[in-house]
Amino acid sequence: MKPAIRFVDVVKKFGDQVVLDHVNVEFLAGKTTVIAGGSGQGKSVSLKLILGLMAPDSGQILVDGCDVGKLSRKELDQVRAKFGVLFQGSALLDSMTVWENVALPLRERTKIKDEELISRVEGALAQFDLTGHGDKFPAQLSGGMKKRVGLARATMLKPDIVLFDEPTTGLDPQITMDIYRLFFRTQKEFGFTSIIVSHDIPKVFNLADQVVILNDGTMTVFEHPEDIQHSEDPNIMEFVEQTMGDVYSSSEELE
Ligand SMILES: Nc1ncnc2c1ncn2[C@@H]1O[C@H](COP(=O)(O)OP(=O)(O)O)[C@@H](O)[C@H]1O
Ligand SMILES: [Mg+2]
Repeated sequence: MKPAIRFVDVVKKFGDQVVLDHVNVEFLAGKTTVIAGGSGQGKSVSLKLILGLMAPDSGQILVDGCDVGKLSRKELDQVRAKFGVLFQGSALLDSMTVWENVALPLRERTKIKDEELISRVEGALAQFDLTGHGDKFPAQLSGGMKKRVGLARATMLKPDIVLFDEPTTGLDPQITMDIYRLFFRTQKEFGFTSIIVSHDIPKVFNLADQVVILNDGTMTVFEHPEDIQHSEDPNIMEFVEQTMGDVYSSSEELE
């Protein structure tokens, strides 16, 4: 399986604080990887490294084989054009309607004619269950709808890679699962490489192709989520105990 993104011996520090300590990891093309880890472990920093918004202290981050740390401004822009990004909050423009928010990437980045623009925006609204809501402003939307608009906008330009940073923060558990199902459905349909940073464990793990646990500067890859709780790696055991423990023991009690 071809990796879309590779970290090669990546070190990232802030002063004395080592956030990533010689990390080697591959994010598979056309698959969904969930990155999980406690608060402050470096999940958002990892996404910023991938986008070239931050540089590693040493090591390389390869996106489709290109070292993002060694690109010119122009080359970096070309690499960034491959990405759709949905960060915490949906970052919708409050003064624009849903329709205009979704149309924005097409207006900014392409020169397509009005007719095609309209048909693509209407198509995206339908894809994300937003038909009939185009004239609303973000303030008039529920939390789940805002995320769907953000997702429609992030995928409007048919990106090769989509990055989600804690996309369901602030949503109730039912809506959270609905949003994740929509993500996974969209990923399968569009075939993009998807990296999701998530706190919503462990339910989300079962929907992912691989799970990367980030703890104490180290990334560990799991192909099967159930392997996480059986790991004998002290790093992972600490993570399971602190983050997953209650959930798993309570589900075992129910069986
Ligand atoms: N620009 C920065 N300058 C200094 N420290 C930072 C910066 N960005 C992140 N950090 C620190 O790096 C660590 C990891 O941050 P982050 O990736 O945001 O964590 P999270 O896993 O919660 O997303 C945190 O301790 C944070 O304070
Ligand atoms: Mg974060």
